[in-house]
Amino acid sequence: MANISRTAAVAFALSSFVIGVSARSLTTVATAGRKLKPVKLHMYDHCPYCIRVELYLLRNSIPYTRHLYNYGSGAPPSKKGYDSHGGPKVLMGSKVLPVLETSSGLMLGESLEIVNWLTHSYPITRPVGCAADPGGYKEWRGGGFGTVKSKLVRPRITNLTHLKDWSDPRDVEYARHKYSLMGFDYAAALSGTASLVSSMNVHLSDLAAVLEEGEGGGITVQKGGFSMDDICLLPDLRSLTVVEGIVWPKKVRRYLEEGCRGVELYDDYKS
Ligand SMILES: *[C@@H]1O[C@H](CO)[C@@H](O)[C@H](O)[C@H]1NC(C)=O
Repeated sequence: MANISRTAAVAFALSSFVIGVSARSLTTVATAGRKLKPVKLHMYDHCPYCIRVELYLLRNSIPYTRHLYNYGSGAPPSKKGYDSHGGPKVLMGSKVLPVLETSSGLMLGESLEIVNWLTHSYPITRPVGCAADPGGYKEWRGGGFGTVKSKLVRPRITNLTHLKDWSDPRDVEYARHKYSLMGFDYAAALSGTASLVSSMNVHLSDLAAVLEEGEGGGITVQKGGFSMDDICLLPDLRSLTVVEGIVWPKKVRRYLEEGCRGVELYDDYKS
């Protein structure tokens, strides 16, 4: 009898141990795969600010749906837009994206504010450090990359009519009108392609020298790991994939592909 009850006690202890373990692993699984409430990302595919938010969502496995808009929609006819009160206007009253729509219907604008809200509202599975704009990188950033990038990307990106962004000819017309008014010279940008591309290739090889390679092989702007500096830089590099003739240094290309995993690049449509 004593033996039996001891056996029973051991069996009980064992079974509760097993239950304990499985309960714990169930909890772990439940936390990892917890039914996170999906958000809606209202965006333009070509818009680097929108991609910032998407990269954060992907990185932290936050479920989301993409809601794309025509670029000219929501702008008044005086600006060569159409459907003046439609498009993104219906979200927060202005024709500006990204807008994040939370599961409770809250609308948030401004890419970095959205990311901030997400860090406070969803579990962080892969941390994104704060922006630090470290020395060498900051210098590189100030060296003209952005200007050359715009001259190369603007005349080409509107040809991606498979994207909702440019699916109506009025979307392209609106963009060209907008940037022309701002002083952008499309013809000059296109005729300057050869020298712009070689200048960009120099910027990219300079970037390769500045990017850090971590012990785990990850490439980032900061030594300490992935940060908001990467969230801000990667979408600009992604835009550049629409340009023919870019010579991607291996390190920069790997940085781009790993950092933008889950977002389509434009290589197939480059011109
Ligand atoms: C964009 O498409 C138009 C019309 O198909 C074409 O004429 C033009 O050359 C293209 N632009 C570039 C930069 O490829």
